[in-house]
Amino acid sequence: MHQLFTDEGGEEFLLDELRRGWPRAHHQVERPFWVTTDAPLTEGPRAPLLAFARQTFLDGVACKAPSINQWAERLAEAIIDAVPAEQPWRLHLWPAYGEGRAGMNRCGLIRDSLTEKLRKKRRQLLKTLEDSMEPIGHQTSLVQLALRSPEEGVLSVAIAPLPWKCRAIVSAFPEGSVPVAVDKGAPSRAFAKLVEAEQRLGQLISKGETCVDLGASPGSWSHVALRRGARVIAVDRAELRTDLMRDPKLHFHCGDAFKFRADMRVDWLLCDVIATPQRSIDLLLEWLREDRMARFIVSIKFIGSAEYPLIDQLKKEAAPLCREFFLTRLSANKNEVCAFGIKL
Ligand SMILES: C[S@@+](CC[C@H](N)C(=O)[O-])C[C@H]1O[C@@H](n2cnc3c(N)ncnc32)[C@H](O)[C@@H]1O
Repeated sequence: MHQLFTDEGGEEFLLDELRRGWPRAHHQVERPFWVTTDAPLTEGPRAPLLAFARQTFLDGVACKAPSINQWAERLAEAIIDAVPAEQPWRLHLWPAYGEGRAGMNRCGLIRDSLTEKLRKKRRQLLKTLEDSMEPIGHQTSLVQLALRSPEEGVLSVAIAPLPWKCRAIVSAFPEGSVPVAVDKGAPSRAFAKLVEAEQRLGQLISKGETCVDLGASPGSWSHVALRRGARVIAVDRAELRTDLMRDPKLHFHCGDAFKFRADMRVDWLLCDVIATPQRSIDLLLEWLREDRMARFIVSIKFIGSAEYPLIDQLKKEAAPLCREFFLTRLSANKNEVCAFGIKL
């Protein structure tokens, strides 16, 4: 059984997504935020995709421990014989209950107690413990414990290369939540979507690269790209904020995003156009098939939820054209999902 953590209110959407992807498997909402499934997520040639799963606990088991010391003991037992010597591993330990500091403090104390136990029983493991939110490498194992109350939790010990094979649904970020710093210089909050997608992909737009930004106005995505030193071709029917329009590295093209063609292969396709989901999906597929970009971050926007199944077309047709393909409802997304990745 795998345990999936989703956003508030996301349980039914995740359940539908699982039913469409694995119609013969058994899935159920276990409680708010949590869905269980026996779908064979780790089998099959391609990395599984679940836009509505925030984090996946591969072979996650529900467990109980009455004290900090016993949680640490439970974790030590699970880790010591399973995590291979000399290989990197990570530990995500977080409270999935309540508000405030109490759960954080408890997790901090469990971590300290675990460190003490490992120091005594298998010191070597402390040397290979990675403290990183970079994408998970193929040799990296992932141990997760989410406390659902002080005495109850979900534990998953996923040994390499499984977390890497499932990287589109097993987040390198604890809780699957990406911290994005506020950018007061951006024209709107939309910048957070781009920054979150870059971080999840593990690749930032870089100096000297060229981005096409479709539906660019008022310009938060272009602002992020320019700040990173990239050149931007911004396409919209409306101009961007005045300072961005004056930036020598920005070329503004006033027109229809769906008709725009760059005269070369670009480093990034950025697209946040307000359009029906099918139009945005078709646009991304066309750019991928015609090999017009190396990487992409594309918003798929919805009205209501009836059109969510359309994303299955991207799983089927876009993923095979990519070296890395992610399809996720970002923390910064409202009624949208974001497709991002690296072309083959
Ligand atoms: C959500 S806003 C984009 C916000 C932008 N990413 C930012 O960071 O500021 C959507 C934009 O898509 C533009 N848009 C909608 N349909 C378009 C089309 N067919 N061609 C060009 N732009 C379009 C709108 O004018 C609007 O500026």
